[in-house]
Amino acid sequence: MLTSPRATPVPPFRDPETPNPARVQDWALGGSRNTALDRTFGEGLQHGFPLRELTQDNHGFRSRAVRYCLDRDMLQVLDLGAGLNLDGLYGVDSDDVTAVLVDHDPVVIACHRTVLEQQPRRQVSAIEADLRDPAAVLAHPALVATLDLTEPVLLLLTAVGHHLTNADDPRRLIADYVSALAPGSYLALTHLAPTPELPEQQNALNTTIAAYAAHGYCLCPRDSDHHPGVCLANGVSACSVSRFQRPASGH
Ligand SMILES: C[S@@+](CC[C@H](N)C(=O)[O-])C[C@H]1O[C@@H](n2cnc3c(N)ncnc32)[C@H](O)[C@@H]1O
Repeated sequence: MLTSPRATPVPPFRDPETPNPARVQDWALGGSRNTALDRTFGEGLQHGFPLRELTQDNHGFRSRAVRYCLDRDMLQVLDLGAGLNLDGLYGVDSDDVTAVLVDHDPVVIACHRTVLEQQPRRQVSAIEADLRDPAAVLAHPALVATLDLTEPVLLLLTAVGHHLTNADDPRRLIADYVSALAPGSYLALTHLAPTPELPEQQNALNTTIAAYAAHGYCLCPRDSDHHPGVCLANGVSACSVSRFQRPASGH
Protein backbone atom coordinates (compact mmCIF):
# COMPACT_ATOMS: atom_id res chain seq x y z
CA MET A 1 0.00 0.00 0.00
CA LEU A 2 1.06 3.60 -0.48
CA THR A 3 1.61 5.53 2.73
CA SER A 4 -1.29 7.51 4.09
CA PRO A 5 -1.40 11.21 3.05
CA ARG A 6 -0.74 12.27 6.64
CA ALA A 7 2.62 10.48 6.63
CA THR A 8 3.77 11.94 3.31
CA PRO A 9 6.62 14.47 3.45
CA VAL A 10 5.70 17.90 2.17
CA PRO A 11 7.92 19.25 -0.63
CA PRO A 12 8.59 22.99 -0.43
CA PHE A 13 5.70 25.04 -1.74
CA ARG A 14 6.59 27.37 -4.58
CA ASP A 15 3.90 29.91 -3.84
CA PRO A 16 3.29 29.96 -0.08
CA GLU A 17 1.82 33.48 -0.37
CA THR A 18 -1.13 32.11 -2.32
CA PRO A 19 -3.69 29.48 -1.29
CA ASN A 20 -4.30 26.84 -3.95
CA PRO A 21 -7.18 24.46 -4.65
CA ALA A 22 -5.29 21.21 -4.00
CA ARG A 23 -4.01 22.34 -0.60
CA VAL A 24 -7.32 23.92 0.40
CA GLN A 25 -8.93 20.60 -0.42
CA ASP A 26 -6.29 18.84 1.68
CA TRP A 27 -7.20 21.13 4.58
CA ALA A 28 -10.92 20.38 4.07
CA LEU A 29 -10.15 16.66 4.33
CA GLY A 30 -8.11 17.06 7.51
CA GLY A 31 -4.77 16.52 5.77
CA SER A 32 -1.41 17.99 6.72
CA ARG A 33 -0.19 19.18 3.33
CA ASN A 34 -1.44 22.73 3.53
CA THR A 35 -0.20 26.09 4.78
CA ALA A 36 -1.63 28.53 7.31
CA LEU A 37 -2.75 30.57 4.32
CA ASP A 38 -4.71 27.65 2.89
CA ARG A 39 -6.33 27.04 6.26
CA THR A 40 -7.29 30.71 6.71
CA PHE A 41 -8.68 30.77 3.17
CA GLY A 42 -10.70 27.60 3.75
CA GLU A 43 -12.02 28.79 7.12
CA GLY A 44 -13.12 32.04 5.45
CA LEU A 45 -15.11 30.14 2.84
CA GLN A 46 -16.83 28.04 5.49
CA HIS A 47 -19.06 31.01 6.37
CA GLY A 48 -22.13 29.89 4.44
CA PHE A 49 -20.44 27.54 1.99
CA PRO A 50 -20.23 23.86 3.00
CA LEU A 51 -16.73 23.37 1.65
CA ARG A 52 -15.72 20.63 4.08
CA GLU A 53 -18.92 18.64 3.55
CA LEU A 54 -18.75 18.95 -0.23
CA THR A 55 -15.12 17.92 -0.26
CA GLN A 56 -15.82 14.89 1.92
CA ASP A 57 -18.79 13.89 -0.26
CA ASN A 58 -16.58 14.15 -3.31
CA HIS A 59 -13.84 12.11 -1.67
CA GLY A 60 -16.29 9.34 -0.83
CA PHE A 61 -17.66 9.38 -4.37
CA ARG A 62 -14.16 8.87 -5.83
CA SER A 63 -13.58 5.82 -3.66
CA ARG A 64 -16.98 4.39 -4.53
CA ALA A 65 -16.36 4.90 -8.26
CA VAL A 66 -13.04 3.03 -8.02
CA ARG A 67 -14.59 0.19 -6.00
CA TYR A 68 -17.50 -0.02 -8.45
CA CYS A 69 -15.06 -0.54 -11.31
CA LEU A 70 -12.82 -2.91 -9.34
CA ASP A 71 -15.90 -5.04 -8.67
CA ARG A 72 -16.23 -5.27 -12.45
CA ASP A 73 -12.56 -6.23 -12.87
CA MET A 74 -11.68 -2.84 -14.26
CA LEU A 75 -8.30 -2.07 -12.80
CA GLN A 76 -7.08 0.97 -14.71
CA VAL A 77 -7.62 4.56 -13.55
CA LEU A 78 -6.82 7.81 -15.34
CA ASP A 79 -7.20 10.55 -12.74
CA LEU A 80 -7.23 14.03 -14.31
CA GLY A 81 -6.62 16.83 -11.79
CA ALA A 82 -5.77 14.15 -9.22
CA GLY A 83 -5.10 16.52 -6.30
CA LEU A 84 -3.21 15.59 -3.15
CA ASN A 85 -5.63 13.31 -1.34
CA LEU A 86 -5.63 9.81 -2.75
CA ASP A 87 -6.33 8.11 0.59
CA GLY A 88 -3.48 5.69 -0.12
CA LEU A 89 -4.85 4.84 -3.53
CA TYR A 90 -8.61 5.58 -3.40
CA GLY A 91 -8.90 3.55 -0.22
CA VAL A 92 -8.40 0.24 -2.03
CA ASP A 93 -5.47 -2.16 -2.01
CA SER A 94 -3.04 -0.34 -4.29
CA ASP A 95 -1.75 -3.64 -5.67
CA ASP A 96 -5.12 -4.02 -7.37
CA VAL A 97 -5.03 -0.75 -9.28
CA THR A 98 -3.03 0.63 -12.19
CA ALA A 99 -3.26 4.41 -12.15
CA VAL A 100 -2.00 7.51 -13.90
CA LEU A 101 -2.29 10.68 -11.83
CA VAL A 102 -2.31 13.91 -13.84
CA ASP A 103 -2.10 17.37 -12.31
CA HIS A 104 -0.69 20.68 -13.46
CA ASP A 105 0.34 21.65 -9.94
CA PRO A 106 4.04 20.79 -9.48
CA VAL A 107 3.60 20.48 -5.71
CA VAL A 108 0.89 17.86 -6.16
CA ILE A 109 3.05 15.85 -8.52
CA ALA A 110 6.13 16.25 -6.29
CA CYS A 111 4.12 14.86 -3.35
CA HIS A 112 3.03 11.81 -5.33
CA ARG A 113 6.53 11.22 -6.70
CA THR A 114 7.94 11.36 -3.16
CA VAL A 115 5.54 8.59 -2.15
CA LEU A 116 6.20 6.58 -5.28
CA GLU A 117 9.97 6.83 -4.84
CA GLN A 118 9.64 5.46 -1.31
CA GLN A 119 7.41 2.64 -2.49
CA PRO A 120 8.18 2.16 -6.17
CA ARG A 121 5.24 0.68 -7.95
CA ARG A 122 5.36 0.22 -11.68
CA GLN A 123 1.57 0.44 -11.88
CA VAL A 124 1.28 4.07 -10.72
CA SER A 125 2.64 7.13 -12.55
CA ALA A 126 2.35 10.81 -11.67
CA ILE A 127 2.43 13.23 -14.60
CA GLU A 128 2.73 17.01 -14.38
CA ALA A 129 0.54 18.13 -17.28
CA ASP A 130 -2.35 20.37 -18.17
CA LEU A 131 -5.49 18.34 -18.80
CA ARG A 132 -6.57 20.98 -21.32
CA ASP A 133 -4.18 19.35 -23.77
CA PRO A 134 -5.67 15.84 -24.18
CA ALA A 135 -3.34 14.93 -27.04
CA ALA A 136 -0.25 15.64 -24.93
CA VAL A 137 -1.64 13.87 -21.86
CA LEU A 138 -2.73 10.78 -23.77
CA ALA A 139 0.61 10.54 -25.62
CA HIS A 140 2.72 11.13 -22.50
CA PRO A 141 5.34 8.36 -22.29
CA ALA A 142 4.50 7.62 -18.64
CA LEU A 143 0.83 7.21 -19.48
CA VAL A 144 1.57 5.04 -22.48
CA ALA A 145 3.89 2.88 -20.35
CA THR A 146 1.36 2.51 -17.54
CA LEU A 147 -2.11 2.23 -19.06
CA ASP A 148 -3.33 -0.07 -21.79
CA LEU A 149 -5.84 2.12 -23.60
CA THR A 150 -7.11 -0.82 -25.62
CA GLU A 151 -8.63 -2.05 -22.34
CA PRO A 152 -11.34 -0.27 -20.28
CA VAL A 153 -10.30 2.58 -18.02
CA LEU A 154 -12.04 4.50 -15.27
CA LEU A 155 -11.64 8.18 -16.14
CA LEU A 156 -11.85 10.25 -12.96
CA LEU A 157 -12.72 13.89 -13.53
CA THR A 158 -13.75 14.92 -10.06
CA ALA A 159 -13.88 18.43 -8.67
CA VAL A 160 -11.71 19.73 -11.46
CA GLY A 161 -14.03 20.69 -14.34
CA HIS A 162 -15.15 23.79 -12.46
CA HIS A 163 -11.56 25.06 -12.57
CA LEU A 164 -11.89 25.25 -16.37
CA THR A 165 -13.27 28.34 -18.09
CA ASN A 166 -15.96 28.22 -20.75
CA ALA A 167 -13.23 29.21 -23.23
CA ASP A 168 -11.47 25.94 -22.35
CA ASP A 169 -14.58 24.18 -23.70
CA PRO A 170 -14.85 21.47 -20.99
CA ARG A 171 -17.45 19.55 -22.97
CA ARG A 172 -15.08 19.16 -25.92
CA LEU A 173 -12.21 18.20 -23.58
CA ILE A 174 -14.29 15.47 -21.98
CA ALA A 175 -15.34 14.23 -25.41
CA ASP A 176 -11.69 14.10 -26.51
CA TYR A 177 -10.73 11.96 -23.53
CA VAL A 178 -13.79 9.73 -23.79
CA SER A 179 -13.17 9.09 -27.48
CA ALA A 180 -9.68 7.79 -26.60
CA LEU A 181 -11.05 5.18 -24.18
CA ALA A 182 -11.92 1.58 -25.00
CA PRO A 183 -15.57 0.51 -25.00
CA GLY A 184 -16.60 -0.56 -21.51
CA SER A 185 -14.73 2.32 -19.88
CA TYR A 186 -16.33 4.54 -17.27
CA LEU A 187 -16.37 8.26 -16.62
CA ALA A 188 -16.82 9.41 -13.02
CA LEU A 189 -17.38 13.13 -12.83
CA THR A 190 -18.23 15.59 -10.10
CA HIS A 191 -18.66 19.29 -10.68
CA LEU A 192 -19.67 22.31 -8.68
CA ALA A 193 -23.24 23.23 -9.66
CA PRO A 194 -25.13 26.52 -9.36
CA THR A 195 -27.95 26.59 -6.83
CA PRO A 196 -30.37 29.32 -7.98
CA GLU A 197 -33.13 27.55 -6.00
CA LEU A 198 -31.15 28.18 -2.81
CA PRO A 199 -30.34 31.93 -2.91
CA GLU A 200 -28.45 31.86 0.38
CA GLN A 201 -26.18 29.07 -0.81
CA GLN A 202 -25.84 30.71 -4.23
CA ASN A 203 -24.67 33.92 -2.52
CA ALA A 204 -22.10 31.93 -0.54
CA LEU A 205 -21.02 30.25 -3.78
CA ASN A 206 -20.63 33.65 -5.46
CA THR A 207 -18.45 34.76 -2.55
CA THR A 208 -16.35 31.61 -2.95
CA ILE A 209 -15.98 32.21 -6.70
CA ALA A 210 -14.82 35.78 -6.00
CA ALA A 211 -12.38 34.58 -3.33
CA TYR A 212 -10.77 32.10 -5.74
CA ALA A 213 -10.75 34.70 -8.54
CA ALA A 214 -8.85 37.09 -6.28
CA HIS A 215 -6.03 34.52 -6.28
CA GLY A 216 -6.21 33.91 -10.02
CA TYR A 217 -8.23 30.66 -9.91
CA CYS A 218 -11.32 30.01 -12.00
CA LEU A 219 -14.32 28.48 -10.26
CA CYS A 220 -17.11 28.02 -12.77
CA PRO A 221 -20.19 26.09 -11.56
CA ARG A 222 -22.12 24.29 -14.31
CA ASP A 223 -25.13 22.04 -14.17
CA SER A 224 -25.19 18.47 -15.47
CA ASP A 225 -26.83 19.55 -18.76
CA HIS A 226 -23.28 20.19 -19.94
CA HIS A 227 -22.19 16.56 -19.70
CA PRO A 228 -24.66 13.75 -20.60
CA GLY A 229 -24.07 13.72 -24.36
CA VAL A 230 -20.43 12.79 -24.10
CA CYS A 231 -21.03 10.15 -21.42
CA LEU A 232 -22.74 7.96 -23.98
CA ALA A 233 -20.03 8.22 -26.63
CA ASN A 234 -17.74 5.38 -27.63
CA GLY A 235 -19.38 2.76 -25.43
CA VAL A 236 -18.23 4.60 -22.32
CA SER A 237 -20.69 4.71 -19.43
CA ALA A 238 -21.16 7.40 -16.84
CA CYS A 239 -20.43 5.79 -13.49
CA SER A 240 -22.51 8.51 -11.94
CA VAL A 241 -22.83 12.20 -12.42
CA SER A 242 -22.83 13.41 -8.86
CA ARG A 243 -23.67 17.07 -8.39
CA PHE A 244 -20.88 18.63 -6.39
CA GLN A 245 -23.47 20.52 -4.41
CA ARG A 246 -25.04 20.02 -1.05
CA PRO A 247 -27.44 22.38 0.71
CA ALA A 248 -25.81 24.27 3.55
CA SER A 249 -26.88 23.15 7.00
CA GLY A 250 -30.20 24.66 7.89
CA HIS A 251 -31.71 24.03 4.41
C1 LIG B 1 -10.17 20.62 -6.03
S1 LIG B 1 -8.81 19.63 -6.52
C2 LIG B 1 -9.65 18.07 -6.87
C3 LIG B 1 -8.72 16.90 -6.72
C4 LIG B 1 -9.34 15.52 -7.04
N1 LIG B 1 -9.74 15.45 -8.43
C5 LIG B 1 -10.51 15.21 -6.15
O1 LIG B 1 -11.64 15.13 -6.62
O2 LIG B 1 -10.30 15.04 -4.94
C6 LIG B 1 -8.53 20.18 -8.19
C7 LIG B 1 -7.22 19.67 -8.74
O3 LIG B 1 -7.22 19.86 -10.16
C8 LIG B 1 -5.96 20.36 -10.54
N2 LIG B 1 -6.15 21.10 -11.80
C9 LIG B 1 -6.88 22.22 -12.01
N3 LIG B 1 -6.83 22.59 -13.30
C10 LIG B 1 -6.05 21.67 -13.93
C11 LIG B 1 -5.59 21.51 -15.28
N4 LIG B 1 -5.95 22.40 -16.23
N5 LIG B 1 -4.81 20.46 -15.58
C12 LIG B 1 -4.43 19.58 -14.61
N6 LIG B 1 -4.81 19.69 -13.32
C13 LIG B 1 -5.61 20.71 -12.97
C14 LIG B 1 -5.53 21.24 -9.38
O4 LIG B 1 -4.13 21.45 -9.36
C15 LIG B 1 -6.02 20.42 -8.19
O5 LIG B 1 -5.06 19.51 -7.76
